[in-house]
Amino acid sequence: MFGLNKTTTKFCELKGKVAIVTGAGKGMGSADALKLAGAGAKVVLCDIDVDSCQQVAEQIKKMRGDSLVVRCDIGKKADIDNTVSETIKKFGKIDILVNNAGIYPFQPFLEMKEEQFEKVIDVNLKGTFLLTQAVAKEMQKNQPNEKGQKGSIINIASIAALMGFAGLTHYCASKGGMVGMTRAMALELAPLGIRINVIDPGAINTPGASQAKMTDEQRVAMLAPIPMKRQGEAEEIAGAVLFLASDESSYMTGSVMVVDGGWTAG
Ligand SMILES: NC(=O)c1ccc[n+]([C@@H]2O[C@H](COP(=O)([O-])OP(=O)(O)OC[C@H]3O[C@@H](n4cnc5c(N)ncnc54)[C@H](O)[C@@H]3O)[C@@H](O)[C@H]2O)c1
Repeated sequence: MFGLNKTTTKFCELKGKVAIVTGAGKGMGSADALKLAGAGAKVVLCDIDVDSCQQVAEQIKKMRGDSLVVRCDIGKKADIDNTVSETIKKFGKIDILVNNAGIYPFQPFLEMKEEQFEKVIDVNLKGTFLLTQAVAKEMQKNQPNEKGQKGSIINIASIAALMGFAGLTHYCASKGGMVGMTRAMALELAPLGIRINVIDPGAINTPGASQAKMTDEQRVAMLAPIPMKRQGEAEEIAGAVLFLASDESSYMTGSVMVVDGGWTAG
């Protein structure tokens, strides 16, 4: 049976693997990048904010890891293609992709302009589609492991895929779309040896979340339905990302992993 004698490998070992993380400069993306690097992966840090990525790269260097910073606006196909070609040029392959970059600008539905809706869809949904497609084509060229697997893709959606949030019509549409898209992609990628899963985080303490246009009362109200009565930390999502990136999750594809302190359990 697979893995019954696997006692020599470290849990979630990623030595020799190459990972791309989008939105890697801050928040969950930087936590994911550091977690993957800590497990031994070489990490490509892409973001529109190159300075923040350089700081993450410095931390990876201190951990004796290897990384590459690439400026990439995930809403632009030319940037996506450049990210893939820069990764192949530097590291020769791609084993892991974390589609994390995303935006959540609050806007009342009746005031939401067409361009505002399109921007969120372009970054959160279309960017994930384009990068996943480009990366999966590269992953296909990898040598399969003993289970025939060549790569793992993790999409960061949101519990906004499961429930509505006022002011986030465009965002809920994009994250619901990510979940549906992940399931459809999983069906076509499984025979190629590529796994793809999605994480739905709840309220997570990140720079983006703390800048969201919310009143103090709205923040208190947000915590009320969460059984754990607190926001999650970015590292608590990074743990789930590491598990899905590694062979420990080798029988998972097309799955939705909810990490929300119990919010949607009620
Ligand atoms: N924070 C939460 O509570 C929460 C909850 C559920 C899901 N999410 C999702 O998790 C992901 C990360 O969220 P976060 O809170 O860490 O965000 P954040 O705003 O703290 O960080 C996002 C990073 O993405 C980068 N980015 C923004 N637009 C980009 C673009 N077009 N191309 C490339 N990079 C871009 C930013 O520069 C930043 O470094 C997003 O997809 C978000 O929707 C967040």
